Amino acid sequence: MTKTPKYPKRLIEVDLPIKKISEHARREKSIRHGHISTLHIWWARRPLAACRAVLCASLWPDPADPLCPESFIEIAKTEMNIFWNTLDTGNREVQDLESLRTCLLDFIADFANWDNSTNEKYLKISRHLTESAHLALGGIPGSRPLVVDPFAGGGSIPLEALRVGADAYASDLNPVAVLLNKVVLEYIPKYGEKLADEVKKWGQWINEEAEKELAQYYPKDSDGSIPIAYLWARTITCEGSGCGTEVPLIRSLWLSKGKNQTFGLKFNTNCRSNKIEIEILSNPNLRDIKDGTITRGTVTCPLCGYTTPSNSVKLQFKKNMGGADNSRLFCVVTKRNGKNGRKYRTPTDKDLLNFELASEKIKSICLDQNHLNLIPSEKYPDESGSGALSSSVLYGFDKWGNLFNARQKLLLISINLLIKKVVVEFEGNNKDFNSALKTLLAIALDRQAEHSTSLCRWNSSGEKMQATFGRQALPMAYDYCECNPFGGSVGSWKTMIDLVTIPFETASCNDHIGTYNQGDARSILLPDDISSLFFTDPPYYDAIAYADLSDFFYVWLKRLLKPDFPELFNSELVDKKNEIVQLSKRFPGPYSNKTQEYFENEMKIAMQDGRRVLSPNGLGVIVFAHKSTSGWEAQLLSLINAGWIITASWPIDTEMGTRMNAMGTAALASSIHLVCRPRENPDGSLRIEVGDYRSVLSELPGRIHEWMQRLVSEDVVGADAIFACLGPALEIFSRYSSVEKPSGEIVALREYLEQVWAAISKEALTTIFSGADTTAFEPDARLTAMWLWTLTAGSGPVTEGEKPVKSTGYELDFDTARKIAQGLGANLEELSGLVEIKGSSARLLPVMERADILFGKGGVKTAKGKKKEQMTLGEVFGEEVSPDPVIDLKEYTSGKTMLDIVHQSMLLHAAGKSELLKIFLMEHGKNSKFWTLAQAFAALYPVGTDERRWVEAVMARKKTLGL
Ligand SMILES: C[S@@+](CC[C@H](N)C(=O)[O-])C[C@H]1O[C@@H](n2cnc3c(N)ncnc32)[C@H](O)[C@@H]1O
Ligand SMILES: [Zn+2]
Repeated sequence: MTKTPKYPKRLIEVDLPIKKISEHARREKSIRHGHISTLHIWWARRPLAACRAVLCASLWPDPADPLCPESFIEIAKTEMNIFWNTLDTGNREVQDLESLRTCLLDFIADFANWDNSTNEKYLKISRHLTESAHLALGGIPGSRPLVVDPFAGGGSIPLEALRVGADAYASDLNPVAVLLNKVVLEYIPKYGEKLADEVKKWGQWINEEAEKELAQYYPKDSDGSIPIAYLWARTITCEGSGCGTEVPLIRSLWLSKGKNQTFGLKFNTNCRSNKIEIEILSNPNLRDIKDGTITRGTVTCPLCGYTTPSNSVKLQFKKNMGGADNSRLFCVVTKRNGKNGRKYRTPTDKDLLNFELASEKIKSICLDQNHLNLIPSEKYPDESGSGALSSSVLYGFDKWGNLFNARQKLLLISINLLIKKVVVEFEGNNKDFNSALKTLLAIALDRQAEHSTSLCRWNSSGEKMQATFGRQALPMAYDYCECNPFGGSVGSWKTMIDLVTIPFETASCNDHIGTYNQGDARSILLPDDISSLFFTDPPYYDAIAYADLSDFFYVWLKRLLKPDFPELFNSELVDKKNEIVQLSKRFPGPYSNKTQEYFENEMKIAMQDGRRVLSPNGLGVIVFAHKSTSGWEAQLLSLINAGWIITASWPIDTEMGTRMNAMGTAALASSIHLVCRPRENPDGSLRIEVGDYRSVLSELPGRIHEWMQRLVSEDVVGADAIFACLGPALEIFSRYSSVEKPSGEIVALREYLEQVWAAISKEALTTIFSGADTTAFEPDARLTAMWLWTLTAGSGPVTEGEKPVKSTGYELDFDTARKIAQGLGANLEELSGLVEIKGSSARLLPVMERADILFGKGGVKTAKGKKKEQMTLGEVFGEEVSPDPVIDLKEYTSGKTMLDIVHQSMLLHAAGKSELLKIFLMEHGKNSKFWTLAQAFAALYPVGTDERRWVEAVMARKKTLGL
């Protein structure tokens, strides 16, 4: 057996100020100004704050480590002395090594603040520390440490690597991502403000030219009001017998829910003309606003009342390719220059004519031989293709171009042609700069496309348009919003130019460029052992279908940029074959091969290649987030089987306000940063070390306990805390190349993970009940408490004071639920009155749905009414319940378990059975277990749910009854 080589620990292997970094990362999400996220959409971008902090803490050694080189300590001391003594916050001692460590970590936390990201003081110090750490750890003088990210996406990690003074190598399989990396890592640092100025200048020129050509299709109203949005409803023909009217599909009849004024819609039906007219109501009464025509894909005709089923609706749309151009314009939203507020008016004949003219215009452009194929004709997936794009694939958009209505197409191809003209008009003789200018304008066109589809929606609360990618999918919009690109509101071309140039202000502070490549993470185009840090953010198992989504942009980019970058834009659509994702369950058609095994095997190869390019004394950081145990298991297996040892792990909370809403499923707030080292000898060969399973298992509960305490103190709770505990659990196991039982049998990681889930569940339960003896509760109570806890997340704001929400239950991924249950000694299959299992998900029933089980059908009698009726409790709730009905308590039995009893008390309160509840509590409230459980639930049921209210009310009775 070879001896474990010793390297000084990096700061991140010792500590990380996750609470502060999380605060900065969350805040960054709400900052739009100057952030690279405004350049272009990339799904699940890493917050720069988290990247910056992790980079510094990974590149800099821990000064208090006995192996830390003296040269780094000296420089760090000098820099920290200067830094902490030039701040207004007062002097800080940087005497001993422990305090030096704290100073460095505090510096990292402050530097994570967006406001400090371009501050010279922070930049200079961080760059100096990165350089000295690199030299001290054996780097060649004059060189920088190389940070490698082969799943680079929108480029957050490599961008930050440049900022803190490292070299960056970024690659991604996806051509759109590679283009974004080119901008961020090369064009912005290379050309900076000069490029931004040209983009602004030519962006303005395009605006003027486009306005000359197109303003006639978006004219102002005669009173000078400017239309900012056109609201369209797709239509179907009603299939009700003898009806056949054209039904506009509108989800909600609210147009505006402004504070000072509201607007809504009303259908006026005219049987004689067989038409449905749409009227706009100003400040309507609540009861005047009826339901829309479409719910869950079925359409109800306001004229004859017939409901056309969703299959027929889809069939109709298939005949007109999604129906963007067969829609009915039902409202024009306008604004007056210099005046606040929006106006909503009925469309005029002129509005309809303008649209017709735009349709004619586009036909004439497309007849020109030079302009063939300007509109994306690439195939849009149908239901047999990728459902990764969500419901829009079911409605017959057969080409990507069909997502747009005629006027939207006209706008986009006009801008495309104008960008081509810019290239001719622009007289720069630097070919590379010309390409950079064209690229930025093409990116602005992408942003315009995203704001100009028939999937954009009108937001009645914000009174503005919402662009296409509200989430990581392309869901169908039955009614949609078309913006006016010259209206000076959301979706205007001027805004697109701002969005793409603003990031220059903050990203151009990088003084050197990075390297990027289109490539597969399984075969990184770098020699062995060249890098100091392998920091990457691989696809999150089945969460996002990047290649499918990015086709949306690819088809527009290739129409402009193929001559400049033929290697990126030479294919029909983005390559899906080599993307490492698990999509076989969600989309078995095209992705039947992308199974869990595929993900594990291919991710393992990628992780192996990451280890290959990393020097033996280098460090790895893998970011991962997933709300299922299977997603986590797949990622961990590939990492550990690829020869990595996990040495630390840090959850960083990046989401705002992510506490689960009443009906939510687990909402993860944190991504976990798994810090790892290659299990290698100094010569790069793999180390063999066999571990003893018994000692691994005996260490496990202690480590989980210690870590859970820290997590809770940092506000990391629920599913975030559960998954964050995987780090320490895996630290113990992954120290060894294999772990064996006394029999010599090798322990599979999956087997160990079963023990880990159990240990985590037990520890979490102790946390929930603040150390009370949890064995006193039956498995159903433990499972309910743990389930609800799993669904709480993060430290984001919670909406309080709103109307209580009727709970529909609490969903978890089945496998996750099963593992949690197992760890608590519960068996999901035996708890059918508490948990409902459907396919791959499990639902904890809301208390209301347990009413019949708890009281029995007809078990509760009301004394009201002429006849003494038997009613189920559910029915009792449905009616106005009179206070204190006389009910014979002997008529039903108390629940068998403490959970049932607490739920019964909640339901009695809900039914307004105050007297009965009193008698009930006098009996059951003598048992302290009842109150311990009720108290736990009072903190666990989500704020705003009726269940939370009920259990709080039961708790309130405790005092009044003197219990
Ligand atoms: C979670 S994203 C990275 C996001 C990035 N960190 C950011 O902040 O924007 C994962 C990336 O992996 C890429 N990817 C998937 N399979 C790949 C493969 N085989 N090789 C390289 N990249 C791949 C996807 O295109 C996607 O951009
Ligand atoms: Zn009808």
